[in-house]
Amino acid sequence: MIRKFRFGCPIETDSVVLSVQEAPREELFLQGDGHRFQYSLAPEEIVYGLGEQVRGINKRGWIYKSITTDEPFHEETAQSLYAAHNFLLLSGREHRGLFLDTPEFITWDIGYTRGDTMSITLDKGNVDVYVIDGEDPDDIVRQFRRLIGRSYIPPKWAFGYGQCRWSYQSAEEVREVVRRHREAGTPLDMLYLDIDYMDGYADFTINTKAFPAFEAFVEEMRRDHIHLIPIIDAGIRVDPDNALYSEAHEKGYFVKDEAGEDVVVGVWPGDCCFPDFLNDDARRWFGEQYRFLTEKGIDGFWNDMNEPSVFYIRKEKDMLLKLIESLDHVDDKVYDEFEQKQKQLLDRYGIMLDAFYHRYRGRTYKHRDVHNLFGYFMTRSAGEAFERLEPEKRILLFSRGSFIGMHRYGGVWQGDNNSWWDHLRMNFRMMPSLNMCGFLYTGADCGGFSKDTTEDLLLRWLSVSVFTPLMRNHSAIGTRRQEVYRFSNEALSRGVIKLRYRLLPYLYSEYMKAAVRGTMMFRPLGFVYGHDRIAREIEDQLMIGEEIMIAPVMEQNRSGRMVYLPERMRALHFTGDKLCSSEDLEPGTHYVDMPLGDVCIFLREGKKLPLAPEGFEYTVNLPVSELELLSFGEADRPYELYDDDGNTKEYGEEHIVLL
Ligand code: GLC
Repeated sequence: MIRKFRFGCPIETDSVVLSVQEAPREELFLQGDGHRFQYSLAPEEIVYGLGEQVRGINKRGWIYKSITTDEPFHEETAQSLYAAHNFLLLSGREHRGLFLDTPEFITWDIGYTRGDTMSITLDKGNVDVYVIDGEDPDDIVRQFRRLIGRSYIPPKWAFGYGQCRWSYQSAEEVREVVRRHREAGTPLDMLYLDIDYMDGYADFTINTKAFPAFEAFVEEMRRDHIHLIPIIDAGIRVDPDNALYSEAHEKGYFVKDEAGEDVVVGVWPGDCCFPDFLNDDARRWFGEQYRFLTEKGIDGFWNDMNEPSVFYIRKEKDMLLKLIESLDHVDDKVYDEFEQKQKQLLDRYGIMLDAFYHRYRGRTYKHRDVHNLFGYFMTRSAGEAFERLEPEKRILLFSRGSFIGMHRYGGVWQGDNNSWWDHLRMNFRMMPSLNMCGFLYTGADCGGFSKDTTEDLLLRWLSVSVFTPLMRNHSAIGTRRQEVYRFSNEALSRGVIKLRYRLLPYLYSEYMKAAVRGTMMFRPLGFVYGHDRIAREIEDQLMIGEEIMIAPVMEQNRSGRMVYLPERMRALHFTGDKLCSSEDLEPGTHYVDMPLGDVCIFLREGKKLPLAPEGFEYTVNLPVSELELLSFGEADRPYELYDDDGNTKEYGEEHIVLL
């Protein structure tokens, strides 16, 4: 059952698609008035949720903030990442879902100030609070997902392997990367284009020197079964010769300052203006621009810098520059002013919150009031446009900034992680929390984005990403190159990527069922084995669908690990795409060997796992008759394989075949 409690007058977010009657306040299990809510946590209570956030699957013991932020360090002590996902699932003797529908900034003190108390503080206190009661965590998630609408569904090829790097400077370099994969027999479906494909990093332009005859290049790649996926940033480059800039400026589509002037900020191209994605006309206009690339054969995009991220605010920077000029006749007053300005400039986010204005549904709002919706509405602008431009076709779309509601338009990648073992573990733990909030198409930059990776970290990361819907190797300019062929263990990495293609029938089925039924693809063990105290506390093993559990090695210099089995399972060891051995294990704790290159899948008793034949270098639609079925014991029920053409949009149970 879902109950809604309204406090104040919340700004609409369109996160919710069902209308729910308001319930009397006294029925709310939290104490509070909209500004602040409190709740006593029972000792055994687990707090799941918050989607893309730092720390554990169980969120207890820290203080988190719902403020979409470009946070490049993602350290344990961070409080926000790129998203604001305001959903919690409290699981103790009873289970309850809690969703705070508001773009306001929220502080979630989940047993930080006092271990036994959760307090939630809102900026202004205008919020719709949804409370969901249900039989168990799965039931609550299902109800919540019905409330927020069906998750985004990408094309099937987007479940293949993708290679990315910030610094692919030319078509030649891209061809070389593809060639190296194909020659080695390493499967590849997607090659991502970072900002270097653009002319001066300006959206909806092509650097024609480095990428001549772009359309023909897209076609050439397509013949090799490669989809090119360009990045799109949130800002439009300020340039009077750029027709796009002039049009948006004249039509008043940019975010404004108090005086009604376009706000100029610094992002990759230098001076930029942000389209006001909240404004319906501006959003539609921006969405239309994707046509520039879809007409060239592009069918996938990643939206970036949309929290939004700003490097400077032009007005502030100019003032500072002026002060610097006057420093040669420095007196104390100028110096103080300089110091003050410099501090302000560094606090560019703070300035942005109060200096930017948006038009939203006929009213003007300060950026602070709608900040959390910005990335969501950018991706919504693309998603809505694709419905108009390509109504029959699925387009790949994922974003960095997000908010619940955006899950209907695109997926997310988990942002600028580092090549750290700790981030491998953190990205792993985020999977179920993201799934709860409707974000099913997701994954991390495997190998790690910032800092230098190591060959074993990349391989172990691939061995985790082999299960995540988005499997993309991405790294930052200036870091060690990390395409798999750069390392001496290339053959092992290739094996893991090949296994991905064997697992596709399972992964795609589990994804589609989770999307169509509003369930989770990745679940914490506590969702399945709720009465098992040990299982409830496990943070480094996950269930995928109903059939399998994974327990990957996520530490350096380990050739295996302890694995907890809440029930009998069959450990299937794959080296590369070949099943090498299997072992039936009793419930309890076992040391399981998993040397580098070994991917172990734990198959539950009575379940089946479909596998595609070996040898595919890109995604294909296979007839069911070609699948191999691995099973453990007498099947308790048939496996529900979801299969469709992977491109069109008639989703539903009719695509399920029982195996
Ligand atoms: C941001 C993105 C990253 C991208 C870079 C350059 O940091 O998160 O993925 O490579 O910008 O575009």
